[in-house]
Amino acid sequence: MATKAKFQAIRGTRDLLPPETALWNHVEQTVHEVFRTFGFGEIRPPIVETTELFSRAVGQESDVVQKEMYIFEDARGELWQARENVRNCFFRPHENSSVQVLRGFLGDFQSRLQAGLQSREVEHDAGQTQFYQYFSQGMEYFSKLTSNDPDLPLQIHGKVLEEIERMGAFLKNAIVGVRIGTFVALRPEATASVCRAYIEHNMQQLPQPVKLYYMGPMFRRERPQKGRYRQFYQIGAEVLGGTDAPAIDAEVIEMVMTFFDRLGLEGVELSINSIGHAADNCRRGYVETLRAELNKVKDKLGADSRRRIDTNALRVLDSKLEHEQPIIARLPKIADHLCDECASHYARVKKELDLRDVKYVENWRLVRGLDYYMRTTFEITARGLGSQNAVCGGGRYDGLVELLGGPPTKGIGFAIGEDRLILSLQEQTKAHSSSESSPLATSHSPRLYIAWMGQNAYAAAIRAARNLRAAGISVELPPAEQKFGKALERASKLNAKFALILGDNEVTSGEWALKTLADGTQQKLSESQLLDFLKRL
Ligand code: HAM
Repeated sequence: MATKAKFQAIRGTRDLLPPETALWNHVEQTVHEVFRTFGFGEIRPPIVETTELFSRAVGQESDVVQKEMYIFEDARGELWQARENVRNCFFRPHENSSVQVLRGFLGDFQSRLQAGLQSREVEHDAGQTQFYQYFSQGMEYFSKLTSNDPDLPLQIHGKVLEEIERMGAFLKNAIVGVRIGTFVALRPEATASVCRAYIEHNMQQLPQPVKLYYMGPMFRRERPQKGRYRQFYQIGAEVLGGTDAPAIDAEVIEMVMTFFDRLGLEGVELSINSIGHAADNCRRGYVETLRAELNKVKDKLGADSRRRIDTNALRVLDSKLEHEQPIIARLPKIADHLCDECASHYARVKKELDLRDVKYVENWRLVRGLDYYMRTTFEITARGLGSQNAVCGGGRYDGLVELLGGPPTKGIGFAIGEDRLILSLQEQTKAHSSSESSPLATSHSPRLYIAWMGQNAYAAAIRAARNLRAAGISVELPPAEQKFGKALERASKLNAKFALILGDNEVTSGEWALKTLADGTQQKLSESQLLDFLKRL
């Protein structure tokens, strides 16, 4: 029985391997090409940011923030370890040695923390001042209790033991609350980071709007399934600043659709909606009406929806629970509650999409899971993905930059789930040609395998490999001499197109033998003819 490997990629993460990575590169190359033509420049924000950035931007009540973020304290390992030592040490107050171990660990932690605070390696968190003091006093007291100084007034045996027990347990618990670094999170999305960067780099002083795109890994601790990973990849774009002209919404959507079209992605469906803005005569009023209606049918709803009535009533519309569908269908629709400006903005977005020949369906239940959206929201689905069929989601978020401490700024953008996009493209290829593999699948195979034998041939082989690679041809040069038969076998295994047969005879005569592996034909060429021949292919 095969034993399980000791180290495996952690749940929800995976290795992307060749030949599949060739498809990823192709997709990403197409992003650069298409997005550039719409005037977007690339931004590469960091993968970790303060947790607060996301909780503020994405919303405290969203699933992403509440349940799915990877959060940790940004602390040096030694300090973290020192705290763990205290937490994990098995404390037996009746045994002096155990008491001394805890005392030692506590002392070690405290001196490291103090040094960290002094060197500013650990940021002093103002909200923690009192807690630090409280903890330090507790430490001091514990130190006294457990010191072997016979003159201390508390050294009256029974009483001291009780105190040691109480204080030891208290400190072991309290240490968990001592901050040793800022809380940071692996980014669950990048819109918040792009807005942070816009503010940090004063991009409002650049010609507006600023158009940025990004690609890279995002992290959400969701339940993994097909098309849903804990580390997944997004391709996103954001337009910040300038006006909220509906033409911008339409052009952003047109760009995604053009990109999908360029990739040849089939079965793409765009849904759009407007969720208005946060005002009493618009979304807030609607949410109140919705909440009142939901309360009337509360008993028929599932637990999640019931909870959301108070925390985030709009998200009830997102529910996939079968028995809730007929109930939701009868709920009031936001389109009937939009203020005049939002209604007119939405109507103009649709007109602008028509002008661009972008096909869409309207979906009044499309509310999106992140809190920053207002007005236009959209989602795109693709084929072959099962239940996780959204390949792209986006919308307008005019208040977000301001919410993060910047000037009032308009904003709209989207993110494509790259993993899902790739899955859908692969499913499509499978459906079209069940046996043939995609041409991209073998793009990393060498074009030429050099079967060399003898030291003179080896020198010529190295030279030829260098010249051919410089001309962009992929060459496999075996590191050791092989019998020709073996070499040709390996060349076929690697899927090479040609094998160059180079022995001492060929080097002496200057006539090199090039074998086409598919049909076994062979031709004789000089070194320069060979280069010309392969370059022309
Ligand atoms: P989102 O809808 O949360 O929006 O994610 C966008 C896309 O990322 C989804 O449609 C899906 O394709 C993909 N995705 C999300 N979670 C996972 C996962 N666990 N595994 C695989 N793919 C996933 C945002 O993130 C917004 N920041 C989009 C945006 C940009 N809005 C305005 N600007």
